Amino acid sequence: PLEHLLLLIGAYLLGSIPFAIVSSRLLGLEDPRHYGSGNPGATNVLRSGNKKAAALTLLGDCIKGWLAVWIAGALGFDLTWCALAGFAAFLGHVFTIFLRFNGGKGVATALGVLAALDYRIALACLAIWIATAYFSRYSSAAAVAAAVAAPLAALLVLGPQAASLAVLAMSAVLLWRHSANIRRLMAGTESRIGAKKG
Ligand code: G3P
Repeated sequence: PLEHLLLLIGAYLLGSIPFAIVSSRLLGLEDPRHYGSGNPGATNVLRSGNKKAAALTLLGDCIKGWLAVWIAGALGFDLTWCALAGFAAFLGHVFTIFLRFNGGKGVATALGVLAALDYRIALACLAIWIATAYFSRYSSAAAVAAAVAAPLAALLVLGPQAASLAVLAMSAVLLWRHSANIRRLMAGTESRIGAKKG
C-alpha cells in the first residue's frame, strides 16, 4: 500500500544525506571524495586530520539510520517494516541520490539501524568492531568482522524472521562495498585508522 511505499522513500531520502560531505563543508574542509580512499565516510574524513568532522560524520550517518527505524516504529509499522525502513536508509547512504548514487560503505548507518532494531545486536557488533579495530588498526577489517557477525546476532536475538533477513541483506551490501578494502587488506596495502590523507 501507499503508506509502505512512502515509508521506504522517506527512509531512503533520510539515509541519502551524506554527513561526510555536510560536516566537511560546514567545517571548511576538502571534499572527502578527493583524498584518501575517496569514500564519503567517517574513516576517510578522519584522514583529513579533523577529528571533529569525523565525529560529526559518524554521528550524523549513525543517527539517520537509527531515526529511520525509530520513525517507522513511531508511525506504528511492525518490526518487518521497521527493518525495511532501516534497510532503505542504509541503501540511501550507499546509493545516495545527492551524490549521483555514489555514496559511502554504510558502516555507521548500519550501526544506527541495528541499534534501533535491538540494542543488543548493535552492542555485539560494536564490541566486535572495537576489538578488531583495536588489534588491527584497520577500520575496514573491523567493519567486515562486524558485518559477518550482524546477521548471526540478529538471528540469535530476533529469531528467524524477516527483520533478520533485512540485516543479512544489509551485511551483504556492506561486504560488497568493502571489496576494494578486502583486496587491499590481503595485499597488505590498506591504510590504518587515523593515517593521514595521501
Ligand atoms: O566505514 C568505511 C570503512 O570501513 C572503510 O573506509 O575510507 O578506509 O575505505 P575507507
